Amino acid sequence: MKTVEFTQMKHGNRAEYALLHTLESDYIRALPDRLLQALSRLGDSLQGYQVSRLEHSLQTASRAEDDGADIDTIVAALLHDLGDELAPENHSQVAAAIIRPFVRAEVTWIVEMHGLFQMQYYAHHYDKNPNGHLAYRDHPWFDACQRFCERYDQAAFDPAYPSRPLSHFEPMLRAVLSRTPFDPAVLQERPLAVS
Ligand SMILES: [Fe+2]
Ligand SMILES: [Fe+2]
Repeated sequence: MKTVEFTQMKHGNRAEYALLHTLESDYIRALPDRLLQALSRLGDSLQGYQVSRLEHSLQTASRAEDDGADIDTIVAALLHDLGDELAPENHSQVAAAIIRPFVRAEVTWIVEMHGLFQMQYYAHHYDKNPNGHLAYRDHPWFDACQRFCERYDQAAFDPAYPSRPLSHFEPMLRAVLSRTPFDPAVLQERPLAVS
């Protein structure tokens, strides 16, 4: 493969950066493939539950779909625990960072906060505070995060649930990640202006 001549970034020229830009564009286009591979690896991660981390992810997404959630939420549910492998102490932020350019800001917020919100279901068993999420009770997306955690995430440990396979969600994942990154019309960070 053709490579650049420089050994320090500051010495690169325009043609070299044009080459790198082309290669990076190809690499970015393959992001869905890498995410699917990372999800597959969750089949052999955290132990002790009745379902694997992959089944938990598929079940969270399936429950979201069965609840009539939109495609942003379904894809977020599929990816929400992807950080378990590399950032077990703050896994929520990893998934949030991955989806942030491609989904509604509300959905990114839900994924970023789900680790804290999920503590309401188990933290007392570790003599920790289960109510940390209540600090956000006045946040406009509090109820949406509660819904995500109660109906999808905390419920998705049932080996009898009819979860759909990864192949079912693949087209949704590819559709969401093929959006223009950080498109304001997708992110909807502020309410649309009333005309
Ligand atoms: Fe999680
Ligand atoms: Fe989860």
